[in-house]
Amino acid sequence: MLVRSSSAQESSPAPAAECWSIAVDGIDETGVRDLSGLLDDAERSRAARFHRAEDRRRHVVARCAARVILAAALRRRPSEIRFVTGDAGKPALVDGALEFNLSHSGAFVVIAVSEFGPIGIDVEEIRPMPDRDAIAQRYFHPGEVADLRSLTEPEATLAFFRCWTRKEAVSKALGLGLGLALDDYCVSCLPWEGARLREMAGDAAPGRWSIRDLTLGMGYAAAVAAPVASLELIHRRLDHRALLGGMAAKDFPMHLEF
Ligand SMILES: CC(C)(COP(=O)(O)OP(=O)(O)OC[C@H]1O[C@@H](n2cnc3c(N)ncnc32)[C@H](O)[C@@H]1OP(=O)(O)O)[C@@H](O)C(=O)NCCC(=O)NCCS
Repeated sequence: MLVRSSSAQESSPAPAAECWSIAVDGIDETGVRDLSGLLDDAERSRAARFHRAEDRRRHVVARCAARVILAAALRRRPSEIRFVTGDAGKPALVDGALEFNLSHSGAFVVIAVSEFGPIGIDVEEIRPMPDRDAIAQRYFHPGEVADLRSLTEPEATLAFFRCWTRKEAVSKALGLGLGLALDDYCVSCLPWEGARLREMAGDAAPGRWSIRDLTLGMGYAAAVAAPVASLELIHRRLDHRALLGGMAAKDFPMHLEF
């Protein structure tokens, strides 16, 4: 299970979630093949359907790391982890023992694990978006569009991706996929504002949500969201070589310290 630091246990009653980030850019095709050994048949055949090697690599690393991390938390073997997929595509554990979510973009895979209930995570590589304003206008909440319009470069681009990842993290916590209209809820995105849900249609208390930004490195925006009033988020970086080395040792999960 997730173990808090003793100081956090003493001072904070907030629900705790673990978030893991893995840089995938050092993993070659052999590494991807080795990692695929941890996946089940359905995951392997899905991985084989990706046309682009980098998409396959992110998918394999994400599913493999999810297995390893969840197995460590539950004191199981990665092969004992069984996933189901929700109606809108959100993966979950068959027995619901823990909730988790994952995301991948560019050189990063990120995974959030929670013991208190639904959680969503999103990472996006910050990249030029020639149609950025049109996307915001078409999909975002009017409050977000107004905030983005008030900014100039480079803040506007950063704010767009901050907005995107915070929104997507909320959407992924709910697991509704495209079933949740993006203009039905509004997140903060100005550079001087903390991450928060400002409005949610039909919800009189958006303060019941917590959103936390994750710092991954230059060129990335990432956020975690959960329907809880406060959230203690622990971010750990996992070296992909630990995944591979652990597999060779056959007892990798026992070496992961939560
Ligand atoms: C399905 C969706 C959640 C995937 O998001 P994405 O940014 O393309 O990809 P990410 O890497 O962040 O997430 C993909 C992972 O999310 C998980 N996922 C899939 N459907 C999900 C859902 N409905 N809810 C939560 N998680 C989901 C899966 O684990 C998937 O990875 P996998 O297929 O390798 O296992 C997204 O396309 C979606 O439906 N979003 C709705 C909101 C939206 O359109 N936002 C755009 C900008 S704000």
